[in-house]
Amino acid sequence: MSDNNSNSTIERSSFTNKIGFVLAAAGSAVGLGNLWRFPYCVAKYGGGMFLLIYVILGLTFGFSLMVAEIAIGRKTRLSAIGAFDKLKPGYSFIGVIASLVPIIITPYYCVIGGWVLKFLWSYITMPTNIVASTNEAGLTIFEQLITAPAEPLVWFLIFMCFNILIIAIGVEKGIEKFSKILMPILVALILIVAIYSCTLPNAIKGIQYYLIPRSEEFSINTILSAMSQLFYSLSLAMGIMITYGSYMKKDCNIETSVWQIEIFDTVIAFLAGLAIIPAVFSCGTPDDLKAGPSLMFIILPRLFNTMEAGRIIAIIFFFLVFFAALTSSISLYETCVSIFQDRFKQKRIPSIVFTLLICIVIGSLASLGYGPLSMITFFGMQFLDLFDFISNSILMPIVAFLTCIFIGYIIKPKVLIEEVESSNGNFRLKGLFTIVIKYIAPVLILIILVASILQNMGIIPTI
Ligand code: PFF
Repeated sequence: MSDNNSNSTIERSSFTNKIGFVLAAAGSAVGLGNLWRFPYCVAKYGGGMFLLIYVILGLTFGFSLMVAEIAIGRKTRLSAIGAFDKLKPGYSFIGVIASLVPIIITPYYCVIGGWVLKFLWSYITMPTNIVASTNEAGLTIFEQLITAPAEPLVWFLIFMCFNILIIAIGVEKGIEKFSKILMPILVALILIVAIYSCTLPNAIKGIQYYLIPRSEEFSINTILSAMSQLFYSLSLAMGIMITYGSYMKKDCNIETSVWQIEIFDTVIAFLAGLAIIPAVFSCGTPDDLKAGPSLMFIILPRLFNTMEAGRIIAIIFFFLVFFAALTSSISLYETCVSIFQDRFKQKRIPSIVFTLLICIVIGSLASLGYGPLSMITFFGMQFLDLFDFISNSILMPIVAFLTCIFIGYIIKPKVLIEEVESSNGNFRLKGLFTIVIKYIAPVLILIILVASILQNMGIIPTI
């Protein structure tokens, strides 16, 4: 769904029905963020405490920001840059910063997509015990992959080819239709794997770690990581929901749609956590909790190795994850293309090529960052972690902060409340919306952002 026509408010196509909007937005929201990023963030940043903070932020920040972005889009019928400008001339810079986020995320998202493809291929060609085993040097398949001189780059490029091919022959819509069949199968499969994982020996410790918040796990970093994960997972603070809102019909209820998208997205992330965290306690070591981006790729092979029909389940599982990653990366890619089209008044083909070049440069750095380029680090972060940190922990909170200030104090919440009520009759949570957007969100985001930057630079101790 590209925004080729962002300056026209007349000829804008709309989602044909209400559920169409929710499905499209949920399709963009559900992806590697739920399946790969959420479980490793929970494991790394405090288990039950992370989960609790995530849910609280989802009910307040996530809800308010998503309502705001969709309402901005629907009111202006424009994508981010034009939308802010139309609401108040001179404020398009918020949209410009928001547009940087997908440009940074798309390349490294495709690198992870490449990792998923590698695992799919490994299960097609090798039995489960081989995929789960280590080599003579004690390295898992995953570690061998990311430290290899060229292999991660090759898988990244193969994943990119899928994207380009689908975009070039213009069958994104077909892929979206296909994903409506495959998504429910993915949910069912995660549910099965989660139930299995919870019945493993020692899994109960993992379930407790996942579900019971412990005060000693609370830190500024827990809130920052939960907040950035929330934005990432719900595709917020990057202009995307504004674009989706711009295609939404006037009779569609924004408040209800937001709850549906949020619940769907959170349930999938929760199940992915339930599949992986108990398995860490059963098939892994406590150190694995801190594994970060590699968690899914280290734990799942061990889990599949303990299953009767592990290989076939693994093949179906990684195929579905690949598909979820592909639909998300296509919508990310299309977003970048439409940003270049709108911003630099380029035609579609040059914009596709330009996006591709950026993806190849940033993606190559990200894919080789754990191997040949591992000597280059920034504050102890490899390239992929650095890109993730810049987009999720710096740019997205800044965009969210500016959006709140813009709505709370420049255009005033009333303008968006009226937009929500134009289809809804009554915006039930408008009180919560106003308080979060005007006071709670900006203050909290500012404190967390400053504290986290000072902490990462070693100026104040870790709280
Ligand atoms: N929200 C997606 C995920 O959780 O994987 C990431 C994403 C996909 C962001 C598509 C933006 C987007 F347009």
